[in-house]
This record gives sequence, structure tokens and C-alpha cells, in this order.
Amino acid sequence: MTKAYERLLRCYEGIRDRIPFSPKVALVLGSGLGDYADSAAVEGVLDYHDIEGFPVSTVSGHKGRFVFAYVGGVPVVMMQGRVHYYEGYPMEDVVLPIRLMKLMGAEVLFLTNAAGGVNFDFHPGDFMMITDQIANFVPSPLIGPNIDELGERFCDMSQIYDRGLCQVIRDTARELGISLQEGTYIQLTGPNFESPKEVRMCRILGADAVGMSTACEAIAANHMGMRICGISCISNLGCGMTEQPLSHEEVKETGDRVAPLFKQLVTGAITRMGQAEA
Ligand code: HPA
Repeated sequence: MTKAYERLLRCYEGIRDRIPFSPKVALVLGSGLGDYADSAAVEGVLDYHDIEGFPVSTVSGHKGRFVFAYVGGVPVVMMQGRVHYYEGYPMEDVVLPIRLMKLMGAEVLFLTNAAGGVNFDFHPGDFMMITDQIANFVPSPLIGPNIDELGERFCDMSQIYDRGLCQVIRDTARELGISLQEGTYIQLTGPNFESPKEVRMCRILGADAVGMSTACEAIAANHMGMRICGISCISNLGCGMTEQPLSHEEVKETGDRVAPLFKQLVTGAITRMGQAEA
């Protein structure tokens, strides 16, 4: 057994008895959705601090806890606060919570984030359903001895974002009258925003949105055979696409402005996922 898996099991065994149900969906709340759990039927909360061996997030505005709640009747474990690579954690730590949520029982991973638009057709406040990703600017979380208990060494990445779940999100957006962009997410390390030429590079590579999370989480989840979907809130256009310099405040402001719609979309999609299964 690898050290990484031993650690994961230790984390899981330390919390197993405090998990109020077996979650079907693991939901990662990006900035803008930080208070999503407040409107859900919460069954329990587990602070990251209380999980031995768990990496704890340091970014302001990110709470660090798992929230267990029903969303549209579906048992969901939410990550309120994720672990970012730019905080200095090794990739093994960054994806540990994702792996932990799979051990808890979650089969679906629903990723959300704030991202910069690099596609000129995008506008701040748009939502982009992620259909594919570029993750080569950060180390793969699968580097190191393979965790055979979780998945195979050379895992296929031909369809990371599940077609069925993408259709559920599309249908939900249409039903709610929320316009939805679709595209490719590229992960860079951050924490600095990109230079104008880096934004251009992202566009040339085929990306539509750029961010500092998510793709590595999707790789770890894909390795474990989870069904994955994701939505980016386009909080700003990439540097150089407008005259204005970028700030974390702008990212937060847009996130807050469209949060009610984002919540509706996520709740609607999870509810539909539950119905599709029933
Ligand atoms: N770049 C990278 N990450 C981001 C951005 C951006 O412009 N906006 C929100 N997260």
C-alpha cells in the first residue's frame, strides 16, 4: 500500500463515524458559491481542522469544511473551501479531499470555480460548462507510485467530463432560462494572474477559460472512475483583453453578483441528476 493511500485511509477512518449519510454527489464550491450550503438542508458539518492529516486552506473568503446536505433530495457532500496548488501544497494534498469524498461514497464530482474568460465571446458573469481541460501547466496529481486501490497507472482521459451530466446541466440551464457557454478550462499554477501574452497563449492552445484549480481535481477523480461535471463562473476577462488591470476584488464582486443564478443552476442540475437516477 502506498504512503498516500495509507494517509487517505487514516483521514477517512478518523471521520467515518461522523459522516451523517452516504453522499451521492461531491460538490466543490468555488468562490462565489461559498455560502451555497446556507440554503441547503444541512445534516452535518466537518471542519478540515478536525480531520487529522488534512491540508487546510488559507485563502481569504474560503471556509474550510465539508458540509453534508440534501440538495433536491440528493445527499451531497460539499467542499466549502478547496485546497489550491498555489498555496504551496503538493498535488497529493490538493486532491486528497477529492479522494476522500470518493471514499465517503460519492460517485459524481461536481466542480465549480471562478475563472477568467480568454474567449472573446465571453462576458464577466457568464457561466461556462466545462467540456474538456488542459492541465499540463501543473504537475499531474497522479505522479508518484500509483494508488492501485483507486485506479490504474495510465488512465484514459478521452472523456473527463461526463456527457450525460453535461446534458443534465444544459437541460437545467435551458429550463431555468440561464444562458450557458461551453468550453475548455485551462489550469495554470497562479497565484498571479496571467500576463496578456499568457492569456493569448491559453487562447491559442484552445482554452476558453483560465483558472488556478479544478483540472487537477478532475484528473484525480477521473483516475478513480468518478463521473465528473463542472461549471466556471467567468468572473472577468483575461488580462490584456480589456484596458483595466485585474484584481481579486473584481473576481469576488462578479461572483457575488451572479451567485443567485449560479446557485439555481447548481441546485437544478443536482436535483435533475437525482431524478435521472431514480
Ligand atoms: N485567471 C486565473 N484565475 C482566475 C481568473 C483569471 O483571470 N479569474 C478568476 N480566477
